[in-house]
Amino acid sequence: MHTFAANFEIDMSLTDEIAKRRTFGIIAHPDAGKTTLTEKLLLFGGAIQTAGAVKSNKIDMGTRSDWMDIEKQRGISVATSVMGFEYKNLKINILDTPGHADFAEDTYRTLTAVDSVIMVIDCVKGVEGQTEKLMEVCRMRNTPVICFINKLDREGQDPFDLLDEIEQKLNIKVRPMSWPIGMGKSLRGVYNIYENNLNLYEAKAQKLVNDVVEINGIDDPKIDEQLPESAVAELREEIELVNGVYDEFDSEAYLSGKVAPVFFGSAVNNFGIRELLDCFTEIAPPPVPRFTDDREIKPSEDKFSGFIFKIHANMDPKHRNRIAFARICSGKFQRGSNYYHVRHDKKIRFSNATAFMAQQKETVDEAWPGDIVGLYDTGNLKIGDTLNEGEKGIYKGIPSFSPELFKEVINLDAMKSKQLEKGLAQLMDEGVAQLFTYEMGARKVVGTVGALQFEVLQHRLLNEYSAKVQFAQVNIFKACWIGGEDSAIDAFVKDKYRHIAKDKEGKLVFMAETKAWLQMVEENFPNVKFHSISEF
Ligand code: G4P
Repeated sequence: MHTFAANFEIDMSLTDEIAKRRTFGIIAHPDAGKTTLTEKLLLFGGAIQTAGAVKSNKIDMGTRSDWMDIEKQRGISVATSVMGFEYKNLKINILDTPGHADFAEDTYRTLTAVDSVIMVIDCVKGVEGQTEKLMEVCRMRNTPVICFINKLDREGQDPFDLLDEIEQKLNIKVRPMSWPIGMGKSLRGVYNIYENNLNLYEAKAQKLVNDVVEINGIDDPKIDEQLPESAVAELREEIELVNGVYDEFDSEAYLSGKVAPVFFGSAVNNFGIRELLDCFTEIAPPPVPRFTDDREIKPSEDKFSGFIFKIHANMDPKHRNRIAFARICSGKFQRGSNYYHVRHDKKIRFSNATAFMAQQKETVDEAWPGDIVGLYDTGNLKIGDTLNEGEKGIYKGIPSFSPELFKEVINLDAMKSKQLEKGLAQLMDEGVAQLFTYEMGARKVVGTVGALQFEVLQHRLLNEYSAKVQFAQVNIFKACWIGGEDSAIDAFVKDKYRHIAKDKEGKLVFMAETKAWLQMVEENFPNVKFHSISEF
């Protein structure tokens, strides 16, 4: 009886803790207002007291920043990697994503650890390149997305045009939940379609709560009292159009990633944020089930499981410890416990674990599904690793994407080959870049999303591993993971053996030199499938 009662207690608290968690990421093209919005959300949550407390993790590429400057700035992003706060009895975890496009791969991986996303779009610039790419990643997992159209205090594009652009470029349906009344100099407020109230705009509002007028539908005469006649007429016309054109908000469609609710506001003026946050707390999903290569695992299962989605190295070469960021997927994480490391097939004890609340890191004794814990690591963990209480399944969903830039690693000191091997392996575990080793001649080619990573690699290999390298240009357009019947793959590999490499997991990759050539090869080998993502 006693045991039953104890178990029951644990189950109840697990269910409660899961229901309280909302773990999400904010994504945006650089400069759209991600940092500003994050800060305002933290202000609402009481996690910070003053504006300006959240540092941008943008990397200033302007005036001759050398590698260390970049790394120092990057260091900021560790402190702000995960920001937790409490709001309306919920525990909200914001996972920060790097602002610089060169670190896009970091962002892709971070998105595997969230349950939903808020996407910030600049109303002047509309949908920009980075946003499109990030949306593709969200679509791979049907991650629910809420859009926040920012900078309403500027003369932006027509709201209907912006919504059309989102639908077309991001390939998702939208449903406006609020509507701007004017824009730029003539911005008067937002009409909250979702809550049926009117939020009047006040430039540079420092207070958290703006003047919100409760109204009873768009025809309420209270609106006429608040706004000039022409603005009211235009608003009523536009809301009629909105309700005619867009389907009613459908929670299921949002949760399955088919429809994005849209809010309008101005982050820097703290305007339209409360509407966004309140709606987010109502509609955003609590921790969702995740898949291993064996089965689906529900957050409410009593056994702990989680995976590593990010590793950050200590910048001090004398202390090669790192922090591995683990997303808890099921059960309760307890500091000091031994957990099973599936890839190594052994148990590891985690006596040091950190939680992230706003800007402080603090030791945690327990954590729940949806939480992120920082684990101190001396080289056992790598991105994509699964930890659990003993089963073999590995969490799926941290794929590698074909890099954009490729260079060959040239070892400048033959005496240090071993150090180079080790350094490359460890830096690849951290996800700094991807390594492709050719079948022929063991040539090593590094692939990255941005040019910056080559500098990072060169510097760190020398400083941390005493390995001196140079990077040589190579002519590669894309790395394609290959799939298909064994016989088709064998025939292909035989034919193209000079262009076949293995990725860090030993998976076969075709290193295509040009787009045209890749197309030709695809036509010539119809039974081989070429993928730009390592998981297919
Ligand atoms: P990011 O993290 O997405 O890259 O963007 P961030 O929040 O750093 O914002 C980029 C710039 O846009 C900042 O200006 C910020 O103040 C401004 N901004 C954010 N929200 C709004 C808004 O609602 N309206 C207007 N007009 N501007 C907004 P900055 O000049 O780069 O920096 P700062 O000196 O103003 O901080």
